[in-house]
Amino acid sequence: MGHDDPAIEALQQDGVQYPPPPALAAGAVVSDPATWERAAADPIAWWEEQARHLQWDAPWTRALDDDTPPFYRWFTGGQLNVAANCLDRHLAERADRVAFHWEGEPGDRQDITYGQLHARVSRFANALRDMGVERGGRVAIYMGMVPELPIAMLACARIGAAHTVVFGGFSAEALRDRMVDFGATVLVTQDEGWRAGKRVQLKANADAALDGAPGVHHAVVCRRTGGDVAWTEGRDRWFHEVEEAAHPDCPAEPMDAEQMLYALYTSGTTGKPKGIVHTSGGYLTGVAATHRMVFDLHDDDIYWCAADIGWVTGHSYIVYGPLANGATSVMYEGAPGFPEPDRLWEIASRHRVSILYMAPTAIRMFMKWGDEYPARHDLSSIRVLGSVGEPINPEAWEWYRQHIGGGTAPVVDTWWQTETGSIMISPLPGLSTLKPGSASGPLPGISARVVGEDGQEVPRGQGGYLVMDRPWPSMLRTILGDDQRFVDTYWSRFPGMYLAGDGCRVDADGDFWLLGRIDDVMNVSGHRLSTIEVESALVDHPSVAEAAVVGRKDPITGEAIAAFVILRDGVHGDEGLIATLRDHVATQIGPIAKPASIVLTPDLPKTRSGKIMRRLLRDVSEHRQLGDVTTLANEEVVAEIAREAASGQHQDD
Ligand code: WT7
Repeated sequence: MGHDDPAIEALQQDGVQYPPPPALAAGAVVSDPATWERAAADPIAWWEEQARHLQWDAPWTRALDDDTPPFYRWFTGGQLNVAANCLDRHLAERADRVAFHWEGEPGDRQDITYGQLHARVSRFANALRDMGVERGGRVAIYMGMVPELPIAMLACARIGAAHTVVFGGFSAEALRDRMVDFGATVLVTQDEGWRAGKRVQLKANADAALDGAPGVHHAVVCRRTGGDVAWTEGRDRWFHEVEEAAHPDCPAEPMDAEQMLYALYTSGTTGKPKGIVHTSGGYLTGVAATHRMVFDLHDDDIYWCAADIGWVTGHSYIVYGPLANGATSVMYEGAPGFPEPDRLWEIASRHRVSILYMAPTAIRMFMKWGDEYPARHDLSSIRVLGSVGEPINPEAWEWYRQHIGGGTAPVVDTWWQTETGSIMISPLPGLSTLKPGSASGPLPGISARVVGEDGQEVPRGQGGYLVMDRPWPSMLRTILGDDQRFVDTYWSRFPGMYLAGDGCRVDADGDFWLLGRIDDVMNVSGHRLSTIEVESALVDHPSVAEAAVVGRKDPITGEAIAAFVILRDGVHGDEGLIATLRDHVATQIGPIAKPASIVLTPDLPKTRSGKIMRRLLRDVSEHRQLGDVTTLANEEVVAEIAREAASGQHQDD
């Protein structure tokens, strides 16, 4: 691997470093510098200590079952209920404490206390039971950021059913595939969602998806916008009606620690998304512990993770982690710039938000919009900032600290994945000296290394593959229905080690610098997409003979999707067709997958064995000097593509 990024070298030599603010360090949740060492001396005991923060109905008999790697199991014999941990156990002390300050995009607001959340979850759990969902049942959820979304998730957890949340920006096709693969019998959805003042047709998409998912017998529809929706009698019910009709009491069921809590689909290197399986005890241990330590959570904090619950960030750090810790959160429904570019800062100052967590893409967008928007609001309550989802460039890091964090708040750059369940590599704000652009190091209890092709640890300063060489409680258990793919994808390259799929370099001080994906996975605005998924969506169109897709660098979204398309014989290519193809991808996968540019080309650069040379296409898209083309079977096509590419790039909408 050739990750010799001069910018990183310069930074490391530059030595820009920020020690923890003394006041924060003095009262930090984790303040003992020996914590990493103590955890490393006995990681299993460390995780048992974290698991004891939860409420167990039966104690575990074995902390880590590693009899059949890589099928690790945690806290076996133990029983707990995730919803009871997130709700019931807080009732004695903090029934009236706000769990969510919810903000609707049009400006409506709701404060939901732990007591109210508990009551609504209990009723909806009974409503699900009335629809035949039992322990081990499967529920799909396709909603916007409304309170009923976490309510539906927790209702599943309460009765021991598993959920799969499908991001509201995914298409009908994507929803159908996921519902079918998951084996859902009930879908919880919504009439429409609000996004930048526009209505997102969730129910209409759900209707189209349900057409191809005969196993889903019930659709529960939350009324949000009040817009007209089609109705299938016998199948569709209103959320508020089933909730009202249900019995109010629903004792939480003790579940095995290894009971599936949810599966969340994520893109891999093939066209078929992977259902990443998370279970109950280990997952909740991981998200609760990391939420407390990484964000230095105190009782008087107001916490805001400005992500969407449709992605793992929202599962772990809007729903399960914060609620398990009894925190007060802000939850926002809509677009960050609606109706004005200062919407987030207005909300943050009104609620006196003290911890804020978001993606670098959002930070870079705010930078572009201008310093004046945050400057209009009093953000002095902010004391810890978090970043997640993609590498954060030092410029964005510094801007975030300066303009949102008042020049003092530490920025915790948190590296993790859908698969890891919780944060793995991150600073601890009361202890770590920060370097802009570095995620510091593995959290206590986590063992991460950077290895070369031979699986041996590479010397410091050298790039390599990021691996975890010890299991951790919130790790994925398998890919739903495909144990072999689980083994092949994560555990085969280097025996005994989890392959993350990211490149990384550890500097002389032991700090980790994440270098992006090493596979055909793109990261667009912190959303994960595979090149092959987008290629399949393009080839699905009758005009397309062949397609190649790469992620090219983008100053705002990190990567942008660049597509190269060979049309079928006799098809006339023009701007109209390009627009049609971009829309086709949006219909097939979702608007997030719409290529930023499509270049029509008579041929694609391939090796003699017929493999598409994505590296060359990336060079072309980024207008770089072309790399080595001597191994290319069709050398002249590269020049041709470069000419085409230079003649027009399309902006994403
Ligand atoms: C991929 C995982 C983690 C929740 C949201 C994304 C990239 C994530 C960082 C970071 C550099 C990061 C990696 C990873 N990534 N966080 N702090 N620095 N890269 O979850 O969709 O499963 O994507 O996001 O490439 O493999 P995901």
